Amino acid sequence: MARARVDDKNQRMVKIVTITDTSIAEAASVIKRGGLLGLPTETVYGLAANALDGRAVARIFEAKGRPAFNPLIIHVANKAAAEKLATFNAAAHAVTDALWPGPLTIILPRRADSGISELATAGLPTIALRCPAHAGARAVIEAAGVPVAAPSANASGTLSPTTAQHVAASLGDALDMILAAGACPVGLESTVLDLSGDMPVILRPGAVTPDDIARVLGITPAIDDGQHDAPKSPGQLLRHYAPKTPVRLNAKDLQAGEALLAFGPTLLGRHLPDSAKRNLSDGSDLHEAAANLFGYLHTLDAGGHSGIAVMPVPDTGLGLAINDRLKRAANS
Ligand code: TXA
Ligand code: MG
Repeated sequence: MARARVDDKNQRMVKIVTITDTSIAEAASVIKRGGLLGLPTETVYGLAANALDGRAVARIFEAKGRPAFNPLIIHVANKAAAEKLATFNAAAHAVTDALWPGPLTIILPRRADSGISELATAGLPTIALRCPAHAGARAVIEAAGVPVAAPSANASGTLSPTTAQHVAASLGDALDMILAAGACPVGLESTVLDLSGDMPVILRPGAVTPDDIARVLGITPAIDDGQHDAPKSPGQLLRHYAPKTPVRLNAKDLQAGEALLAFGPTLLGRHLPDSAKRNLSDGSDLHEAAANLFGYLHTLDAGGHSGIAVMPVPDTGLGLAINDRLKRAANS
């Protein structure tokens, strides 16, 4: 069912269409003709365009207000398509065979004959590749028949979108269509794993954990979160995942005017109205917490609170990725 939606800020019509076989074909044709598509994936919604088409890729950077030095992830429907774009090494074969499709992006040397827009890879000798687990996303990419560049579908530097409504609110009038498939089940951007050097390095923690990668490669990848002088991932230079409201981490109490983002069973915030509190997971489930994180930050950020107090989240497994996003939200 197609329905038109008025974007609050810009009063322009954005077409949000529920995912069906018909709308998948329509979404693929938006990509084929050089348009911009809001694409659901298992991690976050993407702002998708034909990665072979420099003008379409330029529209992505323009819509997001993204600095041109920050390269995009290229999405493919399967490993064979990825092998046409990058030079695979043994580690790349092993991790993609074990962990694709899934929330894992790999960085590899870009092939000279890849045909990918230089703007999409920001002139780098490497390329970021991902094959999403979301069956609808893969169906769109397959039907488009081209590699698909897709950053998260939010204005640069703001919270990533986990619903079609988040996409419409952030970028609405810049898009030709938003394909809606409900809330993203993972809720955090993919793990970015650099396999272009001698040793595997995680440049962005995500739902594929260091342990998952260690099980495949027999070696635990280092995590380089870019908090030093020479970040490897251009995106690490940027202010990221930032709500407008100040975020205070590891909160054990509440200050006047603050909203609460809780984790696990707690009495903290029992006097707050429901509108001023969310619990990432009452049962301390990290997967549930990751899926709720950006949506709850969006909601609390819109509430006009003086701050958002965030209770501690364990720094293990998926908690590494949750805490990475929370630190970036608090640092801005
Ligand atoms: O889950 C995801 O990965 C989502 C969905 C839509 O697939 N996409 C996403 O894209 O998060 P984006 O553009 O928001 O983040 C891509 C990150 C950036 O930090 C960028 O700097 C990094 O990947 N990146 C891209 N190409 C790179 C390269 N060649 N070397 C190092 N980092 C790279
Ligand atoms: Mg992003």
